Amino acid sequence: MNASHGESRVVALVPAAGMGVRLGENRPKAFVPVGGSPMLALAVAGLIASGSVDEVVVMVPAELVDETRALLPVSDTPVHVVPGGAERTDSVRAGLDAAPDATFVLVHDAARALTPPALIARVVAELRAGAQAVIPALPVTDTIKSVDVTGAVTGTPDRAELRAIQTPQGFEARLLRAAYATGTQATDDAGLVELLGATVRTVPGDALAFKITTPLDLVLANTLVAQGSSNGDREAVTTR
Ligand code: CTP
Ligand code: MG
Repeated sequence: MNASHGESRVVALVPAAGMGVRLGENRPKAFVPVGGSPMLALAVAGLIASGSVDEVVVMVPAELVDETRALLPVSDTPVHVVPGGAERTDSVRAGLDAAPDATFVLVHDAARALTPPALIARVVAELRAGAQAVIPALPVTDTIKSVDVTGAVTGTPDRAELRAIQTPQGFEARLLRAAYATGTQATDDAGLVELLGATVRTVPGDALAFKITTPLDLVLANTLVAQGSSNGDREAVTTR
């Protein structure tokens, strides 16, 4: 499928170089299977199935670059594999360097392996409609409190104004490059862009785009795939 619109080019960067310490499996998290396919293969397949992405760059631990190529779905969409870095921001920076001709960049965690392709398409549509930065957001269901170092509560922000943020996060490539060039730190890519004063828009997220972080998340993900509740486009990832 060709997602191009004129000269503009959408490149998806997939951070997959984390160690998965909280998951506690015997390999880096993106290589842990969900329903029999490695998370990174499912995440890449979802991006391709969205029909909205022209090219994919996957960032993995340096020693796994070669074996990753054999795990990727067979597709007409070019998928490149490059070494990531010590922190997620280092991995995203490596991906940006490998995508010099991008007009729009999506940053999409491999660990959000069951993200529906329709959510990915929604983010890209918002970028094409003129937004500079777009992130998927869900209402929070728990009450969130701030606490001090002793654990005493210091405040209760109004839950109606809070959102839990997912990926893919989409950006004008120029804007994300400028944000990374500042060398500042933030807990997500949009946070860096916010520090530049750019407007970040939200689109409705999807519960299936949850990040597989803990063993409980992995149980949920495997159960969803076994029940066929996750998106059907990716049920069988064919590899090379
Ligand atoms: N990631 C990355 N490079 C890093 C760290 C994280 O590409 N140096 C990626 C992970 O592979 C994952 C995504 O960023 O797809 C979100 O990170 P997280 O869920 O924290 O994954 P891990 O860092 O692997 O997990 P943990 O923090 O439990 O070790
Ligand atoms: Mg991490």
